Amino acid sequence: MLIWLAQRGFKNLSGFDYLQNVVDSAVDLSTLAKTDMKIWQDDGFCPSSKLEKYDVITALYWVYSAWGGNYGNKSRADEDNQELLKQFLSNYLPHLSDNGLLFIELIDSIAEFQEPPENAYPIRHSMQQVANCAEQLGLSIEKQMFNARHRKEPKMLYILKKVA
Ligand SMILES: C[S@@+](CC[C@H](N)C(=O)[O-])C[C@H]1O[C@@H](n2cnc3c(N)ncnc32)[C@H](O)[C@@H]1O
Repeated sequence: MLIWLAQRGFKNLSGFDYLQNVVDSAVDLSTLAKTDMKIWQDDGFCPSSKLEKYDVITALYWVYSAWGGNYGNKSRADEDNQELLKQFLSNYLPHLSDNGLLFIELIDSIAEFQEPPENAYPIRHSMQQVANCAEQLGLSIEKQMFNARHRKEPKMLYILKKVA
């Protein structure tokens, strides 16, 4: 995605992944595409001090899966899902500009009616839980986009804004 953004004129691009082989591939692809960006290995649940301040931060297509214990992460299935989301968002707030946007994709709690929680993505969030976290952290929900076609566990993309 960083390369896609770079090719469309976005600047000061940074990204990381938990797995070193994914990081190595991203560096190779970025070199091939002649794009300028910082890429490093990191744990998105405990990001390092390499993070700077950004107008936009994306957490797409991984957080719910990693909470479920995939990719070598510890499963968080027995923890409070609203607290997990709050902790996650709190890590990134200091790195978001005033009025900056944070995109996060979550498994929507509608999945509870379609797929037992012990299946692939046990951590799911309702709109109310996201609204609670946003309110507690000084974020507004700018937009929500529902994806009903993601397996049996529909996803919701939230675009959150850091209220100045
Ligand atoms: C389904 S892939 C999606 C990759 C990319 N975002 C995309 O849309 O094509 C999920 C990625 O999340 C990464 N990941 C898993 N746990 C992570 C963590 N704790 N911190 C950072 N990245 C993580 C995985 O290594 C994997 O590359």
